[in-house]
Amino acid sequence: FKCIARATCSNFKGVRMLKEKIVALLNDQIALEDYSANLYLAMSSWANSQKLSGAAAFLESHSDDEHSHMRKLLTYLNETGARAVFSEMSKPPCEYASIKEAFEKVMEHEKMITEKINHLVDTCLSEKDFATFHFLQWYVAEQHEEEFLFQSILDKIDIIGTDGRGLFMIDSEIGKLANK
Ligand code: FEO
Repeated sequence: FKCIARATCSNFKGVRMLKEKIVALLNDQIALEDYSANLYLAMSSWANSQKLSGAAAFLESHSDDEHSHMRKLLTYLNETGARAVFSEMSKPPCEYASIKEAFEKVMEHEKMITEKINHLVDTCLSEKDFATFHFLQWYVAEQHEEEFLFQSILDKIDIIGTDGRGLFMIDSEIGKLANK
């Protein structure tokens, strides 16, 4: 029995190969996280131009978070022996009519990202790729946190309002959410 067990184990020395369909979807997600990082950095630059220093700091730190989401996927692909492929990125929007519109766009974008993650998770299950399914649970939880965070910002904007001092207060509150 021991000999058979050793022989079987030796067959598992190689790197676990991912299916092409999963590699393609993970690469799509890398592109999306990379785009998210640029989108929030461009939005931070817009906020700076509007003298909204709190929102600018928060969006810049969130751009860093998105970059780390991209890197985490990249590492996973490398660990499985698959190859990350970078595609051409479209230019993110640079103008917003108001802070409310900017955060509405953030929410819209994050809901789209959640759908992409859900599709990826669903595909892993149907392809019986349980390791990638497990890896992606971090992203499932992260999307829940992000949607909650951005909805709370939109709620503050609605409650406080953005006229006069309201805008100053909102910007200060958003600035407190930046990663220190
Ligand atoms: Fe990487 Fe905002 O999701």
